[in-house]
Amino acid sequence: MTAVVNDATEKMDLRAELIVRIGGYMTAHSIGVAAELGIADLIKDGVRGSDELAAESGTHEPSLRRLLRTLTAVGLTTEPEPGRFALTDVGAQLRSDSPDSLRAFSRMFCHPILLRAWQGLGHSVTTGERAFDHVYGTDFYSYVAEQGDANRLFNEAMSEESRIAAGQLAAGHDFSEAKKVIDLGGGDGTLLAAILSGRPQLRGVVFDSASGVAEAPATLEKAGVADRCEVRAGDFFQDIPMDGDLYIIKSVFQDWNDEDSLALLRSCRSQMPDSATLLIVGSVLPETASTDQPIMFFTDLNMLVNTGGRERTEAEFRAMLEETGFTVRSVRLGAAGPLSIIEAAPAAAGR
Ligand SMILES: C[S@@+](CC[C@H](N)C(=O)[O-])C[C@H]1O[C@@H](n2cnc3c(N)ncnc32)[C@H](O)[C@@H]1O
Repeated sequence: MTAVVNDATEKMDLRAELIVRIGGYMTAHSIGVAAELGIADLIKDGVRGSDELAAESGTHEPSLRRLLRTLTAVGLTTEPEPGRFALTDVGAQLRSDSPDSLRAFSRMFCHPILLRAWQGLGHSVTTGERAFDHVYGTDFYSYVAEQGDANRLFNEAMSEESRIAAGQLAAGHDFSEAKKVIDLGGGDGTLLAAILSGRPQLRGVVFDSASGVAEAPATLEKAGVADRCEVRAGDFFQDIPMDGDLYIIKSVFQDWNDEDSLALLRSCRSQMPDSATLLIVGSVLPETASTDQPIMFFTDLNMLVNTGGRERTEAEFRAMLEETGFTVRSVRLGAAGPLSIIEAAPAAAGR
């Protein structure tokens, strides 16, 4: 009798585990709507009633309450009394006034543009093609560049995602020999601002497409480093600044397939000085998947859907760098928050 009960309980638990995972898209939609409405900003540090929150957010109270109960079920809010809600530490990251905010990141990754592209996952898995292009008829970066609000949101989301890695890279890497740091695909300049702050001898260039650097002047100004940092728009497959001694490429290679990644490395190799150093900052996949680091596998699949790129293992990075004329000096796993740092130098320099 006991064995039968245990068997039934175990089966129910297993079913629940799968069903909770299937509910992942419902969770994503719920987080996206809450982030869009700014609900976490309305709750702040307090415990707020769904009636007050509905009045302040202009929403339908019984429905908002159901949304908040679902967010409670997945650990973003608590409901200490019926109909009253507070933020958990996880949910507090949806506050826009938090230095650790992931509100823009949540709004971007739960945005209808990306959710619609993800509906094409089956197409990507069947054909190996980018679902984004299949759905929208153009590539991700060209599309987003044409959408003013979504472009701003994407740049802000990348900046939020970069903050911890930027802080750790800025604090943990030895910049004492560098004079001019070039951040290729540097987006809104969050990383370079963190590196230049507190190092008055250092100069920098944020290099990205015109839509990518659109928010960079404001970021650099706010960080007080604008007088030492240029913002240059361009295409890193064509012309990169040639006047740096340290080149950083963070969270860029996963956007590109192997052919494009090799082209980008060749562009760097042929234009950066022989004496310069290249730092690749990004995820380095383990050889086998496990439940330990789900985010890098989500990113990998997200790249299959949206950009046609992929995450890579250390061996794959080493092979690409060697093929394009670089010598790998070190690979520091997890040295920049969740990200790793690969340091390389032009091989011909014999260093
Ligand atoms: C995933 S984002 C990473 C941004 C930033 N490095 C960070 O870590 O937050 C990739 C960046 O590559 C830029 N990018 C894409 N194609 C580019 C190109 N052809 N030339 C220069 N930048 C490009 C995008 O605009 C975007 O800012």
